[in-house]
Amino acid sequence: MPLRIDILTTFPEMFGEGSPAALGVSIPARARGAGLVEWHATDIRAYTTNKHQKTDDRPFGGGPGMVMMCQPVWDAVHAVEAMDTRSATRVLLTPQGRPLTQEVVESLAARPRLLLIAGHYEGIDERVIQKLEPLEISIGDYVLSGGELAAMVLMDAVIRLLPGALGDEDSCKSDSFSSVTIPPATKRGVATQRRLLDCPHYTKPREWMGMEVPEVLLSGDHARVAAWRLERMIERTRERRPDLLGEASSGGSKPDPGSPRGAAEGD
Ligand code: ADE
Repeated sequence: MPLRIDILTTFPEMFGEGSPAALGVSIPARARGAGLVEWHATDIRAYTTNKHQKTDDRPFGGGPGMVMMCQPVWDAVHAVEAMDTRSATRVLLTPQGRPLTQEVVESLAARPRLLLIAGHYEGIDERVIQKLEPLEISIGDYVLSGGELAAMVLMDAVIRLLPGALGDEDSCKSDSFSSVTIPPATKRGVATQRRLLDCPHYTKPREWMGMEVPEVLLSGDHARVAAWRLERMIERTRERRPDLLGEASSGGSKPDPGSPRGAAEGD
């Protein structure tokens, strides 16, 4: 049975069928076509009970922006959940949520049904969040205009993990942040599991602008290639994301957000 994803939003057209939706191309579109996943966007506004179909109102206590009201969100969640007998994992996209990591994505990809709630305006009335008890997920420490793009990011990351979604079943195993086994350095050591950054990749031509493809990749020796790739993964992770190896950053200075990889000054 396909994974069912429902999205509750006030902008269902962002997930539209014929529109140039981000999910209408590439792997998500193929996975949908192959019956691995289905998604349905539902307009929260359709569940308003007030005359003007208002989904939001001014915040108590004053301040800027608008707050999404409890009633339409509550009713929309229950109406959509009743559309299928499988129980849905409720997810609220919010900058205050737990960071979306590959581990979280793997866990979500194993569920039969997801219900994604994309908030807008200043947020959603806290009481309906307390009652619905969704997983609260953030896609990063920055603020988007709404949860829709965050929902699409989550959907894309989940869908590519569904069995059969990628042409080559093994290709997601070597993705950045997938768990890999690092063999022990000594005979008596133990292997460790780590989530590492991916290694560099190369394709034709063998030489481009005077730059050669590493010789080992042309050797045809699969064991040497695998060992070289693992070494590069560890090296990259140590340089760029030492936190993934449980190591402290070597440079004392703060990474420069304007540099290509946020490298510390002097790197
Ligand atoms: N809504 C607005 N910003 C967001 C973020 N960073 N992650 C998830 N949902 C959001």
